[in-house]
Amino acid sequence: MSDVFPGSLTDGHNERQLALQSLFRTLEDNSEGTVIVDEQCKIVWINARYADRFGFKDPARAIGKAVEEVIPQSQLREVLRTGQPILLDLMEAPDRTLVVTRLPLKDPQGKLIGAIGFALFDEIQSLAPLVAKFSSLQKELAVAHESLAQARRAKYSFGHFIGECDAVQELKRQALRAAQRDAPILLLGETGTGKEVLAHAIHAASPRAHKPLVTLNMAAIPETLLEAELFGASAGAYTGADKKGRIGKFQLAHGGTLFLDEIGDMPPALQVKLLRVLQDKEFEALGSNQIQRSDVRIIAATSAPLARLIAEGQFRADLFYRLNVLTIELPPLRARLADLTLLAESMMNKLAASGLGQHRLAPSAIALLTQYSWPGNVRELHNILERALMLSDRATLEADDLAPLLYPGTQPSHSSAKTHAESMQAFEQQLISDAIKNCKGHIPTAARQLGLARATLYKKIAGFKPDE
Ligand SMILES: Nc1ncnc2c1ncn2[C@@H]1O[C@H](COP(=O)(O)OP(=O)(O)O)[C@@H](O)[C@H]1O
Ligand SMILES: [Mg+2]
Repeated sequence: MSDVFPGSLTDGHNERQLALQSLFRTLEDNSEGTVIVDEQCKIVWINARYADRFGFKDPARAIGKAVEEVIPQSQLREVLRTGQPILLDLMEAPDRTLVVTRLPLKDPQGKLIGAIGFALFDEIQSLAPLVAKFSSLQKELAVAHESLAQARRAKYSFGHFIGECDAVQELKRQALRAAQRDAPILLLGETGTGKEVLAHAIHAASPRAHKPLVTLNMAAIPETLLEAELFGASAGAYTGADKKGRIGKFQLAHGGTLFLDEIGDMPPALQVKLLRVLQDKEFEALGSNQIQRSDVRIIAATSAPLARLIAEGQFRADLFYRLNVLTIELPPLRARLADLTLLAESMMNKLAASGLGQHRLAPSAIALLTQYSWPGNVRELHNILERALMLSDRATLEADDLAPLLYPGTQPSHSSAKTHAESMQAFEQQLISDAIKNCKGHIPTAARQLGLARATLYKKIAGFKPDE
């Protein structure tokens, strides 16, 4: 500095003024670009090289423009707003990342009159490794965001929910109507009836479709971890917790839908917290007392008998009433046998496409399938068909391709000493006793499921062999 201002620094009152001038010149000499804005954030000065970088061959054309019109990523407006400098930052320019410094400009009374930005291009060499690291991290982050967003999109729409019987058509109408609202939805139905498919379809048909769909299965996570999974945890909130804390499903689903599967398995202590979110739209992460707002649509599902859980004190009645606003019951497969062929064909087509070959069902096979009680519902149908296709090389599946899969106790007649009549008798006995078990011993219901007259069923039971 003594070269530039020989002897002047000792001049007392001039000292500060000279230091400022020197500082400015040093920065300007070393910078790729300098821009100055007034308190409206309009450009009052920009050097030619910097203007050129942003497509202004003549720097005079940039004067008077809002800074963002010339430098889209500029943060000088932020400096004006806060009055605070941004001493070191990275800014994306059209062909490279620039290292920038931004300072507020104040008059002698300390009033903010503008701001100045320097792009320290010539210094970037020393920062090159840092900048390279930053851009690669940014790219990785973008890729991670994209793949997460994909994972959180709905996998199914209403078209994937196969079924045309009256009950299913009504169910789809209800679900479509519910999708338009923002209240919680409760899906009730036995396992394998399509609750998850329906939850996806509802999200996809809702105004939140472009936001995440996040799932948490209460039965699949150890009780001790559920709270952190649901609401997140601050750093070190529990033994073994991540140092950085944990992001909860409520945060991940923000703006979108949270699907709480097997809600009947939710521990009572957590039910209270969920109730609070539903009532007040607020929650706190584990180990934090910072209240967070929730903007999440809840879809809950369960195959458990909620009424019984409430009576037994396992499930809170007040939570049930909150959830029980838009309730949709999914019928078991045995109550919509009219759709069985349609479901089976659609599944066999998909399985054929996955390499298992095109197969058909013989009438005998369809008859057998419609007699079965399907405790595992559509999921079980899928599993049975998949196994049958793997085991059989016949293009058309017959009843005897399926019977051993549905009734593993019974043997096909060719590999046992039993006659056809004996096998059929054993098979029927198994069928009936399964149905009765399924209906908890209620014979009229079992008869309805089997499609038999009650009297016929009683007669058949009377004819059962013991020990079978
Ligand atoms: N109506 C349906 N149409 C087509 N596939 C279905 C249907 N219902 C269930 N599925 C299939 O059955 C399996 C179980 O469905 P899921 O939604 O997980 O049932 P739940 O959640 O009620 O146990 C899945 O493979 C799903 O694709
Ligand atoms: Mg499920």
